[in-house]
Amino acid sequence: MSRSAHPAGPRHADVLPEGHYSAPPSDLNALDPKVWSETVTRNEDGVLTVGGIDVKRLAEEFGTPAYFLDEDDFRARARAWRTAFGEDADVFYAGKAFLSRAVVRWLDEEGLNLDVCSGGELATALSAGMPAERIAFHGNNKSTGEIRRAVEAGVGRIVLDSFQEIVRVAHIAQELGMRQRVQIRITVGVEAHTHEFIATAHEDQKFGIPLAGGQAAEAVRRALRLDGIELIGIHSHIGSQIFDMSGFEVAAHRVVGLLREIRDEHGVELPEIDLGGGLGIAYTSDDDPREPHEIAKALTEIVTRECEAARLRTPRISVEPGRAIVGPTAFTLYEVGTVKPLDGLRTYVSVDGGMSDNIRTALYDAEYSVSLVSRSSDAEPVLCRVVGKHCESGDIVVKDAFLPGDLAPGDLLAVPATGAYCRSMASNYNHVLRPPVVAVRGGEARVIVRRETEEDLLRLDVG
Ligand code: LLP
Repeated sequence: MSRSAHPAGPRHADVLPEGHYSAPPSDLNALDPKVWSETVTRNEDGVLTVGGIDVKRLAEEFGTPAYFLDEDDFRARARAWRTAFGEDADVFYAGKAFLSRAVVRWLDEEGLNLDVCSGGELATALSAGMPAERIAFHGNNKSTGEIRRAVEAGVGRIVLDSFQEIVRVAHIAQELGMRQRVQIRITVGVEAHTHEFIATAHEDQKFGIPLAGGQAAEAVRRALRLDGIELIGIHSHIGSQIFDMSGFEVAAHRVVGLLREIRDEHGVELPEIDLGGGLGIAYTSDDDPREPHEIAKALTEIVTRECEAARLRTPRISVEPGRAIVGPTAFTLYEVGTVKPLDGLRTYVSVDGGMSDNIRTALYDAEYSVSLVSRSSDAEPVLCRVVGKHCESGDIVVKDAFLPGDLAPGDLLAVPATGAYCRSMASNYNHVLRPPVVAVRGGEARVIVRRETEEDLLRLDVG
């Protein structure tokens, strides 16, 4: 049982099979397509390539550590979500997973909408030309400045998260002589993570307005009375890294129940429901994520069935996948600096990054895979812990991994599935510089977020 297993980790520690790490994989050089992006392969020299470029060349040109993002894979995943949900639904990419102006342009081109949750994300989206009406603005404590900017820009929806915010947004919109389209985020008493969901008592969190005790119904009552806002729907987000659709089933049932109450009390049928994000990806070969078309089919069927039972017109559905689109599209490339075998324990492999470029292992006990990618090796597998260069013993990138016994300084390691919540949660701890994000496509690589420099650090330090 893990010390700090977090719901946002890829799996609960208590569902790990016994002796999970006892058997090394049969072939350490194999690249499981589940965890690597679409164009990743090994060339005849055993070097990993992405988008047709090998990692030795990438490391030479862009340095390490660095995130390499497979643009074709990103676009294909975005398109798969768009196609799976079709014209009668909307897909909002959750920018918190990873956002840059290039990503915004790809989303725009692929016909996706965008969920932002801060003024900074909103500014990034607008500066890259995402049409404001395709932006949804989230957050449990948006400032009045952020709200004003969003309303003025004409965002398609603001997702209201509290009683105060209902009034705040209505007043600001009215002051600006506008009517803002809004959804109300409710907590339906379901928390889903990975292979499980819990259907009680999860109103105990900072997000949303609880359905329990009639609070959500009261929020709707108040929202419907205010001129500055137009209530278009109800929003629910139940968790992260979810594989099991049953949590969504319960959530949809409860959201539709509220729509029915609203119809009965106010004679209004709200036209939209948003079921949030949280769909899981494979971080290791043990994870079995579902395909967008299966998810779309399951969610659409649940909502349609529930609405038929409640004699409601089926609302337009929207979803907000972040991790499921960008997560599998990138890997982090590191150079090995030291290899330290500890007798009878394990071998510590230190790389040139760490918790500043991937906090998820330290924060959530998240699991990752790792491979030697600058060459193949037939050496015996050795149980390793891949750690970073930070002054902290919890600075772990991959807690338990088998790597070839001839691993040596100068070798390149890659950690797949780091596209989501790695660069976006990166820090400058120990004044380590945040790595670049390099998009690779069709034999070409280009920096989309450059590496931080010492000058960048010193620019903020006004002396
Ligand atoms: N919509 C809402 C309202 C959300 O709060 C989130 C994530 C998403 C969509 C996107 O969820 P996704 O599809 O990416 O799982 N930092 C954590 C995850 C926190 C997610 C917060 N909200 C991690 O590294 O796992």
